[in-house]
Amino acid sequence: MISIQGLTKQFGGLEVLKGINLQVDRGKVVVIIGPSGSGKTTMLRCLNILETPTKGILTIAGQTLDFSKNVPKKNITAFRRLTGMVFQNYHLFPHKTALENVMEGPIIVKREDKATARKRAEALLEKVGLRDKLDSYPSQLSGGQQQRVGIARALAMEPEVMLFDEPTSALDPELVGEVLKVMKDLAQEGMTMIVVTHEMRFAREVADEVIFMDDGVVVERNQPEVIFSRPQKERTKKFLHMIM
Ligand SMILES: Nc1ncnc2c1ncn2[C@@H]1O[C@H](COP(=O)(O)OP(=O)(O)OP(=O)(O)O)[C@@H](O)[C@H]1O
Ligand SMILES: [Mg+2]
Repeated sequence: MISIQGLTKQFGGLEVLKGINLQVDRGKVVVIIGPSGSGKTTMLRCLNILETPTKGILTIAGQTLDFSKNVPKKNITAFRRLTGMVFQNYHLFPHKTALENVMEGPIIVKREDKATARKRAEALLEKVGLRDKLDSYPSQLSGGQQQRVGIARALAMEPEVMLFDEPTSALDPELVGEVLKVMKDLAQEGMTMIVVTHEMRFAREVADEVIFMDDGVVVERNQPEVIFSRPQKERTKKFLHMIM
């Protein structure tokens, strides 16, 4: 389903990703953990081509981009649609309502007609528990509600894979649960997900696999119970010791 081969990313002289290899099967949930600056966000952004990889071969749902060659822009546009991204700070349009935020992508990017887009946006907002907030602006919503709009907006594009970059880390503690619940439901419906998070309970309960990244490489990947109870690598042990 997802295959990352030899992914590297350099910013100027700084090599931030140093040859990432990773496979994720359809319907699986992978949680990525690792210290600040280890390249977690950069990796997600490369998958969504918000950053152009320096090198590497990315495959999602049968579409492949090989960055050792020149990649045509239209291939990038098509590839980007395969993933839906949820950001730490929601990134909603402040002057649009919840409903308009969710309708925007399908209308502008997919050229869907308004009625179809509206119907699905309503259904998605209902799914994330915001049936009564369709006409609210982001400033009228709590952080947890805004993030659930963010999830609905990503889902509206019908991606093959959902990418989450610390979706709950900007939230007050009492709002974290409602967002994790929506993510858990999505996982149970069979969505393929890559989630960068420090929510270890979520990782334990929902992840099929946990990946520990450090300094631009995958140090260890294993089932959550193995990573958390008996990590195999010294660096993983040290990191978990620090945060738990
Ligand atoms: N646009 C950029 N230009 C230059 N350097 C960058 C850029 N984006 C990221 N970096 C650098 O790349 C490295 C990895 O950053 P990244 O944001 O991927 O880390 P992270 O693992 O997500 O960290 P955190 O846990 O703090 O979010 C850092 O050293 C960062 O300073
Ligand atoms: Mg990050």
